[in-house]
Amino acid sequence: MVHLSSAACLLGGLVGLFLLAPVLTGHTPGSMCKPLSTLNDSLSHRRRFMKHYFPINYTVRVHHKEIFKLKNIHRMRFRVQGLDDFVLQRLWFQVNQGVLKKILRVLPERHPSRPYTAELASRFNDVEDIFRQAHGPEVLQQEIPDAIQDIFDSLTEIPDSVPKSGWRLASPKSLLDNFSHTMHCLFSNCFTNQTAQDYCAVSYWRKGRKKETQSES
Ligand SMILES: *[C@@H]1O[C@H](CO)[C@@H](O)[C@H](O)[C@H]1NC(C)=O
Ligand SMILES: *[C@@H]1O[C@H](CO)[C@@H](O)[C@H](O)[C@H]1NC(C)=O
Ligand SMILES: *[C@@H]1O[C@H](CO)[C@@H](O)[C@H](O)[C@H]1NC(C)=O
Ligand SMILES: *[C@@H]1O[C@H](CO)[C@@H](O)[C@H](O)[C@H]1NC(C)=O
Repeated sequence: MVHLSSAACLLGGLVGLFLLAPVLTGHTPGSMCKPLSTLNDSLSHRRRFMKHYFPINYTVRVHHKEIFKLKNIHRMRFRVQGLDDFVLQRLWFQVNQGVLKKILRVLPERHPSRPYTAELASRFNDVEDIFRQAHGPEVLQQEIPDAIQDIFDSLTEIPDSVPKSGWRLASPKSLLDNFSHTMHCLFSNCFTNQTAQDYCAVSYWRKGRKKETQSES
């Protein structure tokens, strides 16, 4: 009896694994491309709303894991075995939700960047809704590698219990730069036509860094 049911469980588990496998290849669901492109349109105005409308050298306080760059993605892919892009995409949503909240929080009601940021957040939420729909709750509840789970846990910690050393100051523009770059890398199959450059490539963030800080800052 016991044997039978555990065999059935095992079988069920195996079937489940096979069914889920294709979903977990990290390929972005096609339904996400349109909302991602809308989000990308908003992000293209970030220089004006996140730099020009702020005092010079203005910074916001963010969790150190909310500074999420191409370099971090590269490192995680290198260090965490069997890491699926799907997991990194989930992390991207978690990180940037926090980033947008923190920028919104510092903007007074009548600040000219407020409507822009609110719209950006709403478009971001639309993308996340589609992401959740496309993958379904079972997939979203699957275990993820410990190293990545630790990052999730630290991001969802109560702010009061984050040590002082856990915070960083960053300009809103640089946060959105990284928001945009990591989006192009992690959802690359929605962007391949429009972006000549492969954002995920090591050479892009290594060699491109100097050029970029000049042209984008
Ligand atoms: C994303 O925005 C950039 C401008 O920042 C534009 O060049 C590119 O074509 C856009 N890509 C998509 C897929 O909308
Ligand atoms: C902004 O930061 C730069 C580099 O740290 C510094 O040279 C400049 O004086 C700062 N500007 C203002 C207005 O604080
Ligand atoms: C965002 O990325 C750029 C280069 O990709 C980097 O220069 C900048 O410091 C990053 N911003 C933050 C807040 O780390
Ligand atoms: C993407 O590029 C291919 C050829 O490289 C072209 O056939 C296709 O129409 C393009 N798609 C879009 C959405 O521009």
